[in-house]
Amino acid sequence: MTQINHYYTELQGSYLFSEIAKRRTKFMEENPNAGIISLGIGDVTRGLPEAVVKAMHAAVDELASPGSFRGYGPEQGYDFLVQAIIENDYKARGIDIASNEVFVSDGSKCDVGNIQEIFSQDAIVAVQDPVYPVYVDTNVMAGRSGKFNKETNRYENIVYLPCSAENNFTPSLPDRKVDLIYLCYPNNPTGMTLTKEELKRWVDYAKANDCIILYDSAYEAFIQEKDVPRSIYEIEGAREVAIEFRSFSKTAGFTGVRCAYTVVPREVQAKDAGGNTVKVNDLWNRRHTTKFNGVSYVTQRGAAAIYTPEGKAQIASIVDYYMTNARIIRDGLASLGLEVFGGVNAPYIWLKTPNGLDSWAFFDKLLSEANIVGTPGVGFGQSGQGYFRLTAFGSLENTEKAVERITKLSL
Ligand code: MLT
Repeated sequence: MTQINHYYTELQGSYLFSEIAKRRTKFMEENPNAGIISLGIGDVTRGLPEAVVKAMHAAVDELASPGSFRGYGPEQGYDFLVQAIIENDYKARGIDIASNEVFVSDGSKCDVGNIQEIFSQDAIVAVQDPVYPVYVDTNVMAGRSGKFNKETNRYENIVYLPCSAENNFTPSLPDRKVDLIYLCYPNNPTGMTLTKEELKRWVDYAKANDCIILYDSAYEAFIQEKDVPRSIYEIEGAREVAIEFRSFSKTAGFTGVRCAYTVVPREVQAKDAGGNTVKVNDLWNRRHTTKFNGVSYVTQRGAAAIYTPEGKAQIASIVDYYMTNARIIRDGLASLGLEVFGGVNAPYIWLKTPNGLDSWAFFDKLLSEANIVGTPGVGFGQSGQGYFRLTAFGSLENTEKAVERITKLSL
């Protein structure tokens, strides 16, 4: 009989958000009138910005006419979108990115999940703990993780960089040789950020130790404080060692539309089996063109509209809306005496569960007593045990209602 990729059997349980959805569905079946409020998965609730809708409608009309119809586009993205990204997200901040360094895709989850496959199976991977589960699980599937240790709740070959209140959620540099380091800032799930000086330590470390930083910056648009770095390329030397991932999902309501991009500078290098240096950009280009046929024209037109003056204003108001929710959650929970983190430069609020409850016990309490779905911190890794994540992506009305319900709980 055909053999499976046996590394899949090393995966633990179901994907975190599938498990949460399963528990939520079960609770809803048993309590159909509960009026559940979901502040679990970071899925957005605001509609598409008007500028995006207009641009997408116009693009559909273009496709309807033989004279302006388009079939396959460039796998890396249409030039109009690539240029808009370069001009607005980078050049405007003094960062030079070339057009052959930008790869438009159908989502950051796919990109951060797929990037590992261009590196050696022996590559040692470091992740923050707690961590977005996709980084870990895709490396498990590829056979880099080793066995899962149920006692420690960790894979034996993955290097975990704990982030908790004790170190102000700032990971220490790895204590052994690693090849790939996943960093996510603003951080999912903790909502915390690094200063420029802190990020520079990572870039300097990667340069000194010949490793590559995979920098997930999907929540960059939510940064409010001026001194927080928005791109890793603000740090000198980062072009040699860092790949950056960005997404339109959370700002432009694209979680269902799907569009993101990855920047792979030409300077980033790795070695082949013969010890020769190879440009990682060439490998990613090869992978992308082989396995991906590009994001739809309509979607890319919609994404480009975000960079028009109207689009920018509409995005700013969406970010404002969610960050108001974040403040309501933060202030509401803090006023109950809970320890609350994040939510200032990110749409995630990370709280210490009260009375030493473990993360899943708090999940069940919140679901059964307040009919609120959140995300148990331990689902993001062992260092998330005793923490809990709420998102600011709900509607204002539901966010206010949720905080009110939590206020009434006996904690
Ligand atoms: C999350 O809730 O962590 C995110 O929505 C997951 C994602 O963007 O894939």
